[in-house]
Amino acid sequence: MVAKTMDQLVSLCKRRGFIFQNADIYGGMQGVYDYGPLGVELKNNLKQAWWRSMVYERDDIEGLDAAILTNRKVLKYSGHEDTFSDPMVDCKKCKGRFRADHIDGKCPNCGSTDLTEPRPFNLMFKTMTGPVESADNLAYLRPETAQAIFTQFKNVVDSTSRKLPFGIAQIGKSFRNEITPRNFIFRVREFEQAELEFFVMPGEDEKWHEIWKEARIKWWEEQGLKRENLNIYTTPKDDLAHYAKACYDIEYQFPHGMEELEGIANRRDYDLGNHTKGQEEFKLEAHVHENKESTTKLCIRDDDSNSWVVPYVIEPSMGVDRGVLALLTEAYKEEDLGEGNSRIVLKLKKHLAPIKVAVIPLKKNNEQIMAKCHEIKQNLLKLGIGRVALENTGNIGKAYRRHDEVGTPLCITVDFETIEQQPESVTIRDRDTMEQHRVNVADLPNYLRDYFAR
Ligand code: GLY
Repeated sequence: MVAKTMDQLVSLCKRRGFIFQNADIYGGMQGVYDYGPLGVELKNNLKQAWWRSMVYERDDIEGLDAAILTNRKVLKYSGHEDTFSDPMVDCKKCKGRFRADHIDGKCPNCGSTDLTEPRPFNLMFKTMTGPVESADNLAYLRPETAQAIFTQFKNVVDSTSRKLPFGIAQIGKSFRNEITPRNFIFRVREFEQAELEFFVMPGEDEKWHEIWKEARIKWWEEQGLKRENLNIYTTPKDDLAHYAKACYDIEYQFPHGMEELEGIANRRDYDLGNHTKGQEEFKLEAHVHENKESTTKLCIRDDDSNSWVVPYVIEPSMGVDRGVLALLTEAYKEEDLGEGNSRIVLKLKKHLAPIKVAVIPLKKNNEQIMAKCHEIKQNLLKLGIGRVALENTGNIGKAYRRHDEVGTPLCITVDFETIEQQPESVTIRDRDTMEQHRVNVADLPNYLRDYFAR
């Protein structure tokens, strides 16, 4: 069974140091969260799994890490200045502002029906570059990581000699001034995206759209999400983002409902077409903004037709924070252990677990046992499996409970037998079965190498 309520997840996240409200000591900031000691590990592991599957395991994708501060012209020609908005109404009585499609002719705050007509409210955060606050210095915090992939398209092609089809992957922060952030880290104002722009020959877009849909579902299953908790939603034409010709949403059964985890959009030649120099030279399918300011043709040589083409784009775009929330939802279990005992356990896949191995002394602060714990920890770190934590709390039952709750797959306990008998041995406890068995210290590196390679 998956987590029953968001409250259970929020409580676990705070108690065990996964996720905290930003500026908590000042009452918090709406729609902004901070990742704590274990949250940062979980999120990094998820990003690493994505990067590995995109950039390392495939031979047709390059990486990029572009700036968050975005030149105004990029978001002018991308269409975001004109169209990246939600329709809002203001309550004339209490001055509240709400999304027009979220209310029913009545102010949800004070009940008044004296509302303004809906007006578009742009979701982008504005800022200034340089010391002078002027229109010329206006810049934006990027609302999607995708735009820099389009504007750097030519530099990547020229520096890597890529041919179609190929992709550019990027992970990073994006910002949207959501009117009603909600559902914990699901809808937030500062968030992280993992986006792939996969460039294909015009006409091959629909085929690749299907290929990426299947690949991405498979990947999410590999991260531990059950197929029965995933849904594919085909966005109706009149709900599509301004750049998309078609879009599938991979939805997940979050505690608050079945909602989007990742969008897989067919953006055709909309973006490269908007940003390219010499638009009239190309047979662009998308309706683009006239651009006389771009200095570069964003096209690629097609050897078959001996011509320059503006590629089409398929974009799998995942919300990293939503991914973390889905993983926590799926992994969270409350198990009845019989005789009135129960435990909370986070059954994360081992490659995602924040702590891979906890090394625990049976007796707190015992010098010999602690020295052995330190030695084992340092040796295991050399395996490069991720975080190995030394847990010197002294109460072995509490230590196991804590590591069940944060999803640590293995606990190694150093006891008196370890230091008194030869060959040296320790117990290894498995998170899921709670079974323990003894392993020789000398065999630990091979044991763990095998375990984490599986
Ligand atoms: N790049 C797609 C999105 O931000 O939703």
